[in-house]
Amino acid sequence: MHLNKYLTLILLYFVINLHSIPILQSSDTVQTTSIYNPEQNEGLEGGDMVPQPFQKSLTDRGVAIKPASSNRWAGGVVPYEFAANITANNSAFIVAQMRAMENLTQVNNTQCISFRPRNASDLYFITIFNGSGCYSPVGSWGSYIGTRPVSLMHGTYSTCMVSGIVQHELTHVLGFYHEQSRPDRDSYVSIQWANIDPSQAFNFVKYNDSQVDVEMTSYDYGSVMHYEWNAFALNSSGPTIIPTQNTSAYIGQRIRLSPVDILAIQRYYGCVPTPNITTTTISTTITTTLMSSTTTTSIISSMGNSSTVMSTTTTAATSVIIDTFWKL
Ligand SMILES: *[C@@H]1O[C@H](CO)[C@@H](O)[C@H](O)[C@H]1NC(C)=O
Ligand SMILES: *[C@@H]1O[C@H](CO)[C@@H](O)[C@H](O)[C@H]1NC(C)=O
Ligand SMILES: *[C@@H]1O[C@H](CO)[C@@H](O)[C@H](O)[C@H]1NC(C)=O
Ligand SMILES: *[C@@H]1O[C@H](CO)[C@@H](O)[C@H](O)[C@H]1NC(C)=O
Ligand SMILES: *[C@@H]1O[C@H](CO)[C@@H](O)[C@H](O)[C@H]1NC(C)=O
Ligand SMILES: *[C@@H]1O[C@H](CO)[C@@H](O)[C@H](O)[C@H]1NC(C)=O
Ligand SMILES: *[C@@H]1O[C@H](CO)[C@@H](O)[C@H](O)[C@H]1NC(C)=O
Ligand SMILES: *[C@@H]1O[C@H](CO)[C@@H](O)[C@H](O)[C@H]1NC(C)=O
Ligand SMILES: *[C@@H]1O[C@H](CO)[C@@H](O)[C@H](O)[C@H]1NC(C)=O
Ligand SMILES: *[C@@H]1O[C@H](CO)[C@@H](O)[C@H](O)[C@H]1NC(C)=O
Ligand SMILES: *[C@@H]1O[C@H](CO)[C@@H](O)[C@H](O)[C@H]1NC(C)=O
Ligand SMILES: [Zn+2]
Repeated sequence: MHLNKYLTLILLYFVINLHSIPILQSSDTVQTTSIYNPEQNEGLEGGDMVPQPFQKSLTDRGVAIKPASSNRWAGGVVPYEFAANITANNSAFIVAQMRAMENLTQVNNTQCISFRPRNASDLYFITIFNGSGCYSPVGSWGSYIGTRPVSLMHGTYSTCMVSGIVQHELTHVLGFYHEQSRPDRDSYVSIQWANIDPSQAFNFVKYNDSQVDVEMTSYDYGSVMHYEWNAFALNSSGPTIIPTQNTSAYIGQRIRLSPVDILAIQRYYGCVPTPNITTTTISTTITTTLMSSTTTTSIISSMGNSSTVMSTTTTAATSVIIDTFWKL
């Protein structure tokens, strides 16, 4: 009975969302396969975000959610519990992604954010369960009393057990929306409304500066929080999101936090200062990120070089951030 219901649900998703997406595996090899995108859960805001229970409507919601004071996890610590239907094998995979995120966001060998099993005195914690799709709350939900549901399912036709999907969902938990919801997104991507299922158009919402904080980072095609090129497409052979600054840029990677994701988390949690627009602070922060993890370093060095960064910084104040980090 339950099984039938699930099979129908799975098949329905399969039909509706069937398209070819690159599945980025934890081994970091890219494999293209036909599978529904488990992050595209119809009816949930942004495909994979659970509305706060006290929010008035799905449209009443806020890159980093504001205000940070009531959406950040205290001390950057996220207590978690696993529901019984997450297998030991999958919980080990999820915990490994938590460790990877902690390592990537370290500043000077000190943890910036961390995940730990909830203890008996924790009032606020996430519950990771095997639901239908991959979705999560955005931010800590403050002092809300009740379940903070994080669905990381693992099924026959679909799975959230992909390094970058788990990191994506946990980054929502830390307080971040999708990259293409940034206030400045129209300067970086062209949303192809004609190819978007009208009932899913809300997934392409753009927030304003009073709702979200870009943490003085540039728009990042490489963000683990960016949708892929044909997310929620009517015709999935055609795009819904075209990167306009670099039409061949790859969007929607699901391997790990990008260097800019890392910086945004470090700034939101106050682990590095959010700079005012000055060349000195920016280059200091870049140095900090470069030093914080060898993985980050390799990504950065394969995408740009610091002399480019330095020369860009001297041009115009506002484009500094954008150009600087984009070249990273
Ligand atoms: C356990 O997880 C690993 C990595 O996710 C996977 O390759 C393996 O097939 C899983 N084993 C079982 C029994 O599910
Ligand atoms: C995180 O860093 C610790 C300490 O350096 C190391 O033991 C662990 O293997 C790292 N884990 C991951 C997932 O990178
Ligand atoms: C248990 O949770 C409480 C409340 O969040 C926290 O103050 C305390 O440090 C935790 N204890 C341990 C051993 O992590
Ligand atoms: C897993 O458990 C949660 C609650 O513990 C439940 O809501 C969910 O439906 C379960 N998933 C499956 C596939 O049974
Ligand atoms: C998780 O849910 C999927 C369907 O949503 C199901 O195929 C799978 O067996 C479930 N796993 C567990 C351990 O309950
Ligand atoms: C931001 O958007 C919200 C919701 O649409 C709106 O109420 C608010 O006035 C907007 N703020 C600015 C500064 O545009
Ligand atoms: C879907 O899009 C592709 C690529 O743009 C196009 O070649 C094809 O004709 C479209 N199919 C339909 C049914 O519109
Ligand atoms: C544009 O994106 C492609 C693919 O990611 C990359 O190889 C190329 O270097 C990028 N070009 C610029 C100017 O950044
Ligand atoms: C990290 O260490 C460097 C060198 O000791 C120091 O200059 C910098 O201020 C430190 N950064 C933070 C955020 O503590
Ligand atoms: C940025 O400027 C404000 C106001 O001038 C100041 O209070 C703040 O400390 C500065 N922040 C940094 C990181 O320099
Ligand atoms: C770094 O950028 C500068 C300025 O664009 C360029 O002249 C130099 O060749 C680049 N170095 C490397 C190693 O790519
Ligand atoms: Zn998401």
